Amino acid sequence: MSGKFITIEGSEGVGKSSNIAFIENYLRKLGKQVLLTREPGGTELGESIRALLLDAKNTAMCSDTELLLMFAARAQHLDEVIRPALAAGKWVICDRFTDATYAYQGGGRGIAEARIATLETWVQNTLQPDVTFLLDMPVAAGLERASKRSAPDRFEQEKLAFFERVRAAYLARAKKYSGRFRVINAEPALETVQAQIRKSLDELI
Ligand code: TMP
Repeated sequence: MSGKFITIEGSEGVGKSSNIAFIENYLRKLGKQVLLTREPGGTELGESIRALLLDAKNTAMCSDTELLLMFAARAQHLDEVIRPALAAGKWVICDRFTDATYAYQGGGRGIAEARIATLETWVQNTLQPDVTFLLDMPVAAGLERASKRSAPDRFEQEKLAFFERVRAAYLARAKKYSGRFRVINAEPALETVQAQIRKSLDELI
């Protein structure tokens, strides 16, 4: 038996954490075996790679290093956590996955889509999420929310224009892969956002 693979995406400050907690609780209440994980990270090695990627002191990191580290962490995550969990029939909820690479390293940093696609095939083969929730809202509002949290990491230090490109790349992917993506308007109150998510989960179940 094979489980389902759910990913959650969005720019900074769109409310991923609360909505992920909602998805996890909703599925658990329905008796599903759930595994919650995140990228970059999700394994001991991957979390070490995450620390390198997010450390604001690493100003010298070039875009290709950033891209390759994302996929290095992902390869480990797939091998150690995601594929075994899916094979065991678990529902895997992953806080960001390869769409984030297309959005941040592709849209944000300007790396060609074809390069990312090469690594995607190398690391994932044909594995893709069953459903991807894209939490979407205007960039300025999200950054305002995110700025109220801890000190900015290496990505959060980027300018508004970077996150505008990230958002545009996410929306372009949602359009291209409309069968897999659910674009959720993340601006309204949490209950309204969660009602949209619940509807899509019910369809998946
Ligand atoms: P988080 O803040 O959602 O935990 O994610 C950490 C940062 O990593 C976030 O700013 C987005 C970035 N990121 C990429 O740039 N590319 C990727 O492939 C992933 C998974 C995350």
